Amino acid sequence: MGLKITNLSLNLDEGGYKIIVGYGIGSVLGQSMGKGGNKVAVITHPRIGRLYGNEVMESLSKAGFAPIVFQFPEGEQNKTLAHAGKIYDFLIQNRFERSSTLLALGGGVVGDMTGFVAATFLRGISYVQCPTTVVAQVDAAIGGKTGVDHPKGKNLIGAFHQPSLVFVDPSKLATLPEREYVAGLAEIVKYGVIYDAALFAFMEARAEAILKRDKESLLHCIKRSIEIKAEVVEKDEKESGLRKILNYGHTFGHAIETVTHYKKYKHGEAVSIGMMAAAEMAYRLGTGSLEVVNRQRALLQGLGLPTRFPKLALADLLRVLESDKKVVGGKVYFVLPEKIGSVSVQKIERGPIRKILRDICLN
Ligand code: GLY
Repeated sequence: MGLKITNLSLNLDEGGYKIIVGYGIGSVLGQSMGKGGNKVAVITHPRIGRLYGNEVMESLSKAGFAPIVFQFPEGEQNKTLAHAGKIYDFLIQNRFERSSTLLALGGGVVGDMTGFVAATFLRGISYVQCPTTVVAQVDAAIGGKTGVDHPKGKNLIGAFHQPSLVFVDPSKLATLPEREYVAGLAEIVKYGVIYDAALFAFMEARAEAILKRDKESLLHCIKRSIEIKAEVVEKDEKESGLRKILNYGHTFGHAIETVTHYKKYKHGEAVSIGMMAAAEMAYRLGTGSLEVVNRQRALLQGLGLPTRFPKLALADLLRVLESDKKVVGGKVYFVLPEKIGSVSVQKIERGPIRKILRDICLN
């Protein structure tokens, strides 16, 4: 039986790119990248390199590329300018040129870092995203947000730089540890709440199958999430309006991650709790409904995601919320759900934020 491949696309005024999706499509990666010949550097972690490096290198070589590999240690703590500097050194040593390409093989850290180096090396070269985690396949690898962290905050240094191709093979998710897999599902629930009631209902009906990594259910969720992400980015590439909705659950989620020093929660777990806090806030402010709170909680819990706000110091949370990129004129903006499938972006004063945090932190 041949490979079943779906070609999605993200279309922008200055050219777009293909997002190729399908199980076991690794062997056609090289040929999807066009005419061989140019230099390609595969940027990855040792663990991912061991799992999928050979397949990618073979596919690139068969298509006429001469790929080389750069590996750096796994973990958000390594998404730094210092590691980006090591990649620049490697590219210079290997005489990379404007026509050369980088290929990110891994999760969000590899993708963000590779994209950032591609955005800045020789004032910009092309790069391909091969995401291997749920979060990266449905979100981080698409849309051109690239960057590295600064000791004072996540993604404080970065650039918008779109990839030239995104290659999504959900069979790569088979090797993801359970906790990491489940955490990634929070981002798919996010798309349901912000944009697509049918996707949300599909997840409600198929939660068990999704948890068992059932191929067909997972493929549907991934494809639909990518379509939504592409549509939103096409309408607002640089996040001046609509794209903000992709931050649903992330304002509270980011605060929780920062206050717990990125050690206690995976990103998706913090987003899950953040989405519950946002739904609760919308309900209390009178713009959202109890139905959203209840259905969202049931789905997140059914998928094994945390929904209860941890007991954290209010002062710490407020300090982080107020230093976030999402602060405008002293007010923090939140993405709040009106109903399943529809959200709005609202600027909220310190008073109501303090009140809701006090209530939910104590629950
Ligand atoms: N992950 C949010 C965005 O790409 O805008």
